[in-house]
Amino acid sequence: MVHAVVLGAAGGIGQPVSLLLKTNPLITKLSLFDIVNTPGVAADLSHISTPAKVAGYLPPDDGLKKALEGAEIVVIPAGVPRKPGMTRDDLFKINAGIVRDLATAIATTAPNAFVLVISNPVNSTVPIVAEVFKKHNVYNPKRIFGVTTLDVVRASTFLAEVNGDVSAAPNVTVPVLGGHSGVTILPILSQAKPSLSANLAQTDVEALTKRIQFGGDEVVKAKDGAGSATLSMAYAGAEFASKILNAVKGSGEEIVTQTYISLEADPEGAKKVTEEIGTSLEYFSVSVKLGPNGVEKILPIGDLNDFEKGLLKAAIPELQDNIAKGCNFITAPK
Ligand code: NAD
Ligand code: LMR
Repeated sequence: MVHAVVLGAAGGIGQPVSLLLKTNPLITKLSLFDIVNTPGVAADLSHISTPAKVAGYLPPDDGLKKALEGAEIVVIPAGVPRKPGMTRDDLFKINAGIVRDLATAIATTAPNAFVLVISNPVNSTVPIVAEVFKKHNVYNPKRIFGVTTLDVVRASTFLAEVNGDVSAAPNVTVPVLGGHSGVTILPILSQAKPSLSANLAQTDVEALTKRIQFGGDEVVKAKDGAGSATLSMAYAGAEFASKILNAVKGSGEEIVTQTYISLEADPEGAKKVTEEIGTSLEYFSVSVKLGPNGVEKILPIGDLNDFEKGLLKAAIPELQDNIAKGCNFITAPK
């Protein structure tokens, strides 16, 4: 019996992610909240013959609170997407306030829910959610996640393409660490499984790295003003939600994935990662082992080659700025 909630459920990501969550047999109740159109989206999804009972909520009559009552997992794709020429950080002006208000509602109504943050800029919106939870004395870093699964999905697909066999993509894994914007996205191709072909030239590795880091721009450009990735994001978001739900259920198998979290989620694991990064960062996308309470263990980064060490070094200043901007939005006196 799992109650899942989508905030921003009528949007480009919200609708398909709600569809995919409706098809997850572990979800028995699905509540959809948006500032527009959720009654229609909910009515539509409610005809699908899967277990979840679907309801749509709008802001009047305390709709947000009603949607969140008893929530165990909350997915947040609310907020504006990029247009060509914009960075994710350009979205901060609008999305920071949206995420703050939604986080406040979660902290006061469903403080124990797993919170999956999709809204950009993820590097800053996750700290915003965390700071709101701290303010309400309900903070548990093991349960707040920035969804970076789309970077991981892209890395598998693009590497399989480079290897000349797209059909192998589901069995190709590349850890993607760091953050979720441009140079903060760190694909660790030296740890790809299966390992990179020895025939791949360093220039090919660099081009592939760049494609993974800037995969979002490819979609923004192709959509030409009509937004950013929605369908691949919905797939990635539903995959990540499913990992959390399977870990809660205790399926017996080890569930390891990458996600952007506070390193406070596992101080012991964080110590090693901080040593590996060489700088103390409060938030970082790391490999984690998931368990019934969320993050069970932060796993070490492992060996990096010189090219990847250079990428890591280049990511740190932007990550530090993004994290400070998110935290200050909640904590700095206005
Ligand atoms: P969209 O404009 O299609 O949908 C956003 C939805 O949010 C709209 O339906 C809107 O009504 C709703 N909304 C706005 N304010 C709200 C509020 N206060 N409460 C509830 N709902 C509200 O945008 P989209 O393409 O779905 O993208 C949503 C966000 O996801 C963007 O910030 C985008 O950058 C981000 N995104 C993140 C990733 C990632 O990998 N993490 C990938 C793709 C997109
Ligand atoms: C993505 O990676 O596709 C998202 O973060 C959306 C964007 O703005 O590129």
